[in-house]
Amino acid sequence: MGRISSISIAIGIMSWILASTIRSSATVEAGMLEHIVPKNHHELCIRLFIMGAIIGFGFYAQNIADRYIRVVSKYDTTHIATKQVFDTMIDGVRIIDNDHNVIQTNRAFLVMTATDEKTISKMKCYETFHSPRCRSYDCVLRQIHDGQNRIDCDIVMMRSDNTTVPCRLTATPFRKSDGSLGGIFEEFRDITKEKEAAQKIKNSLEKWEKVATGTIQSMVQVVETMDPYTAGHQRRVSVLACAIAKEIGMSREHIDGLFMASSIHDIGKINIPADILNKPNNLTKSEYQIIKTHPLVAYEILKKIDFPWPVAEIVYQHHERMNGSGYPQGIKGEDILKEARILAVADVVEALISDRPYRHALGIEMVLAEIVSFRGLLYDPVVVDTCFELFTKKHFDFEKKKATPILS
Ligand SMILES: [Fe+2]
Repeated sequence: MGRISSISIAIGIMSWILASTIRSSATVEAGMLEHIVPKNHHELCIRLFIMGAIIGFGFYAQNIADRYIRVVSKYDTTHIATKQVFDTMIDGVRIIDNDHNVIQTNRAFLVMTATDEKTISKMKCYETFHSPRCRSYDCVLRQIHDGQNRIDCDIVMMRSDNTTVPCRLTATPFRKSDGSLGGIFEEFRDITKEKEAAQKIKNSLEKWEKVATGTIQSMVQVVETMDPYTAGHQRRVSVLACAIAKEIGMSREHIDGLFMASSIHDIGKINIPADILNKPNNLTKSEYQIIKTHPLVAYEILKKIDFPWPVAEIVYQHHERMNGSGYPQGIKGEDILKEARILAVADVVEALISDRPYRHALGIEMVLAEIVSFRGLLYDPVVVDTCFELFTKKHFDFEKKKATPILS
């Protein structure tokens, strides 16, 4: 039984006693028992009604009070639990109303911003922990008001003392109990360590890329030292091959792979004696057989390197021909990688327009006539057409073109 219902019972009994006392004073000659339990039924009913009403009201009030206490207790528990969850969150959180006032923050936010709740509660969001987006068209609150349901971005936040924190921000609408927009809920994750780790990986990758590139360039130089006539050949072939690939509409990733492969496509000549490479007369059959080993030698060297492109395969196939008459595998048509088909044409064109120990350079018209005559038979027709257009309509120049930024 609750306190209110007990009090109401007490008041009810007291009202009975009070009525008895008043009655007793009014009629002193009557016996005490008659005053406590009146014989008059009318008076008895009135007294019972009053006492019942008082006690009944008391129980009713107790019931209301109990319900209120339960709701308040439940609200308090929820509020405390929410605050605990809020404060134990690793990410900094702040709630901002529609006028940019900071209405609530959690402990992590205060640590992140190196401030206290009292100070921060008097400030606008753009005065405490702000970014270049604040007070601009990109203001997060403004975008949520414009209808966005969630904003995720990496952003550099600035503290009051002008120090910065790189953060991953998630902003969502903060809704009141009636569903109307009351402001925004912002969650800030400090990504300083993440950024530092990413930078370390990037630096490390760049370092190893430089080592790999330097190693390959050194190998290229060895080949070109042994065979001065091919010095610059690989670079020029890579320029033409990439120009053709761009015209065809090949993806950037494939062009990067083609650039790498064409830049080192003759690396297998490292295994060929210099006197054969520089022989001023026509090669004998056996010497030619030795020359033909260079794609396989290159493949054996390059397959050990874990390129992000099929460099070893492209180099391996650069002397294959569309009708299967090429070497070393004799594969044909679509079995030859597209990059290798482009490299084949670029290689032939560059070789023919340059001087060799055993012949003088041919003019570009003769070279183009040569590849066009074997269009579809030895060379990919689309590649031949593209190469032809580059020289005849787009005034391709080996020296003015830049292949691709990698390795440059
Ligand atoms: Fe070759």
